[in-house]
Amino acid sequence: MPARSTPLHPAPLSVVTAPLPLSLRIRLWRNRMVASPGFRRLVARVPLLRAVGNRKANDLFRLTGGFIFSQVLLAGVRLGLYEALVGAPVTTGFLANRLAVPEPRLRILLRANVSLGLLIEASPDLWVLDDMGAVLASDRGLGAMILHHAMLYRDLIDPDQLLRTYRTDTELRRYWAYVREMGQDGPKAAEVDGYSLLMRESQTMMADCILATFDFSGTRTLLDIGGGDGAFLAAAADRHPGLALRLFDLPAVAERAARHLDSLGLGARSHVHGGDFTRDLLPDDADCVSLVRILCDHDDSRVEAILANIYRGLRPGTTLLVAEAMDGPAEGARLSAAYFGLYFLAMGSGRCRSAQEIARFLTKSGFQDVRTIATPNPLIATLVTASR
Ligand SMILES: C[S@@+](CC[C@H](N)C(=O)[O-])C[C@H]1O[C@@H](n2cnc3c(N)ncnc32)[C@H](O)[C@@H]1O
Repeated sequence: MPARSTPLHPAPLSVVTAPLPLSLRIRLWRNRMVASPGFRRLVARVPLLRAVGNRKANDLFRLTGGFIFSQVLLAGVRLGLYEALVGAPVTTGFLANRLAVPEPRLRILLRANVSLGLLIEASPDLWVLDDMGAVLASDRGLGAMILHHAMLYRDLIDPDQLLRTYRTDTELRRYWAYVREMGQDGPKAAEVDGYSLLMRESQTMMADCILATFDFSGTRTLLDIGGGDGAFLAAAADRHPGLALRLFDLPAVAERAARHLDSLGLGARSHVHGGDFTRDLLPDDADCVSLVRILCDHDDSRVEAILANIYRGLRPGTTLLVAEAMDGPAEGARLSAAYFGLYFLAMGSGRCRSAQEIARFLTKSGFQDVRTIATPNPLIATLVTASR
């Protein structure tokens, strides 16, 4: 007699006593069908259904192999593979020499890159960048983000434990010095250098996204709160030559920002202030104030403190612009929300909110005329604006 297979998980007793709506009953029926090997064998025999089934199987495999695929990316970035391919096709022999990896092993990496859509093998042993590879090679910020994931992945090595415990000693929590308890003067220079450089380098796509969506041509003075090294201000200044620049960040970051803006020839157009945005006085001479990748870093109570302080400090009529990755129905927004959900869990602070949630915080803090503005790329950012 054939052995009966035991289900992986016994069916739980339902906790819902009310009759289920039709859509849920259909979902449960569908799940039973999909979980049945016999049904999947049937699907594999019907060409149209087979295409759907294979697509779902490939999606599931993408998740299952996700760690390996991101290690392919990490190896490529660390070795300098994508830069080595900028501008011209290159042979395996040349790459092996330049990257100091034996040819047969390098081929493993190169073939994986082809399968993942990063490279093309133009002819045997001749390699050229594919679209995603070309973006990686041209954007320092993406490379920097991928490199800093090494810390995140160590924090996520036991994700179930991370979910169960409130860990305060993660690498990300040490890296983002401002999410820990700060002394009166905030973190020291050495504690902010790493994240400030990462933020500067990864600002290009964010700034492009904001500047493509929000029109600063009517703005005289822009204050970027938590403005880091001033990379967003520099991008805005480049598009709007008449714009006066103000930046507010922790004292150690403000010093870096002043140096950076000076080095770009923007010193005369900018005033940089150091302080704590939850409690210190903010410059009040701006007609527009931006919060770029700020609120998402903080828990709800801190978001309320930040917004209350900003509300107190600004003159009535000032425009507030919040720009960050937000949860939403678009595929990019959903990807961002899944990514940042775990990221902020490891960091021990913050969460990826929807535009509606951000709008509720702004309204509760007293801001008026709150609006959500979609950007060309919801993976990078959605904007919420309001008036003080
Ligand atoms: C995620 S970074 C974003 C930087 C920049 N807006 C960008 O998008 O590149 C958060 C910034 O907020 C600053 N920050 C954090 N806590 C702060 C506080 N209490 N007061 C002032 N700035 C703070 C950090 O120093 C850092 O520059």
